[in-house]
Amino acid sequence: MPSAFVVPAELAATHRKIFGASTWIAELPGLAEQRLAAWDLRLNGAARHGMVALVLPVVRADGSYAVLKLQPVTDDTAGEPLGLRTWAGRGAVRLLAHDPASGSMLLERLAARSLSSVEDDLAALRILTGLLARLSAVPAPPGLRRLADIAAAMLTAVPGACARLADPAQRRLLEHCAGVVAELCGESGDRLLHWDLHYDNVLAAQREPWLAIDPQPLAGDPGFELMPALDNRWDDVVATGDVAAAVRRRFGVMVEALGLERQRAAGWTLGRALQNCLWDVEDGQTTLNEVQVAVAEALVPLGP
Ligand SMILES: Nc1ncnc2c1ncn2[C@@H]1O[C@H](COP(=O)(O)OP(=O)(O)O)[C@@H](O)[C@H]1O
Ligand SMILES: [Mg+2]
Repeated sequence: MPSAFVVPAELAATHRKIFGASTWIAELPGLAEQRLAAWDLRLNGAARHGMVALVLPVVRADGSYAVLKLQPVTDDTAGEPLGLRTWAGRGAVRLLAHDPASGSMLLERLAARSLSSVEDDLAALRILTGLLARLSAVPAPPGLRRLADIAAAMLTAVPGACARLADPAQRRLLEHCAGVVAELCGESGDRLLHWDLHYDNVLAAQREPWLAIDPQPLAGDPGFELMPALDNRWDDVVATGDVAAAVRRRFGVMVEALGLERQRAAGWTLGRALQNCLWDVEDGQTTLNEVQVAVAEALVPLGP
């Protein structure tokens, strides 16, 4: 069957970067055709995509609007259907159907406008935090990745990563973050975390003003949830002229609205900075990302 669309070149390029030579991209038009037929969908609108997923606006047989989300099943994407099913539309997009064989999902259609369109940074942050409060109030269902395991794996990776860093001050920062995680990891929490809630992953909706999309769920402490909102739209942070104060202001807004214990939340955010830095070192970097360093340095004084 001739395929109804062309894979966006930008999506193919990010897949090459993240996954290397990708058979998934080569098979994507066929997968889309198969899912459109199996779920009796008609294409309706231009394809969208992020770094990983292709999202096709569709109309269902009953005339209602939805989107077909196609993405490879990986450690990061495997938990998405279970997370969305558990939230059942409360603060997050509704899952309408899931095909476990391909990982494809049929989702409620939301607006094209994301929280990035809200210019006032604190207003956007308050909206995001309101969603986060509802999402992370839910206990994680069995079967998801656990922060306990992620934290343990990070601690194992720290000595090797430190050995590859050129700057002793950066080594000390990573070691400090690791010490904090070691202290906290006995109590790593059991909430259902979204784990990737930044402004682009909150879309305007009709049944609620805003809803979260694109979770990478795990079971853990809500303090591990804050980083995507602390380090996104970084230009706004820099524009304040005092990066540390701006990071602490964002952190303060979130901690207060989520009712988190400050020190613990700072500690888990240092853990999240550690995780992002370890990924970079694994990818061959020998200096740490300056945004992660800036967030960590702003929060070290507040942590355990
Ligand atoms: N339910 C939805 N309704 C409308 N647009 C969506 C929906 N889900 C995703 N999108 C669009 O597709 C883009 C990519 O989807 P996303 O789930 O964020 O995947 P990725 O993991 O690639 O970031 C989003 O930024 C958004 O523009
Ligand atoms: Mg996304």
